[in-house]
Amino acid sequence: MPQVIDVCAVSELSPGEVRLVEWEDLEIGVFNCGGTVYAIEDRCSHDNGPLVEGELDQAECTIECPRHGSLFDLRTGNPKTLPAYVPVDTFPVRIERQTIKLEVD
Ligand code: FES
Repeated sequence: MPQVIDVCAVSELSPGEVRLVEWEDLEIGVFNCGGTVYAIEDRCSHDNGPLVEGELDQAECTIECPRHGSLFDLRTGNPKTLPAYVPVDTFPVRIERQTIKLEVD
């Protein structure tokens, strides 16, 4: 059974903003991309780059790894450019009672 964890109030994560959430041994980046919230593991599949520190492109819904520049699609976790070629994990996001929540397992 997935567990549901609270991230923050919707009003605390505006479009273009990013938040890092820790759950057990995972670090998860939560991104507001043009009003839609996505969550992906905060560890680049190439060499563990911290994705939350990268550049968010809200129009393309991508994050650029700050280490070697791979672009990841926030909707799917798939890399769009090398050197990364393995997807990163994504986590379902829910909005309930004006709170952003994640499903983790
Ligand atoms: S660590 Fe992310 S592209 Fe290399």
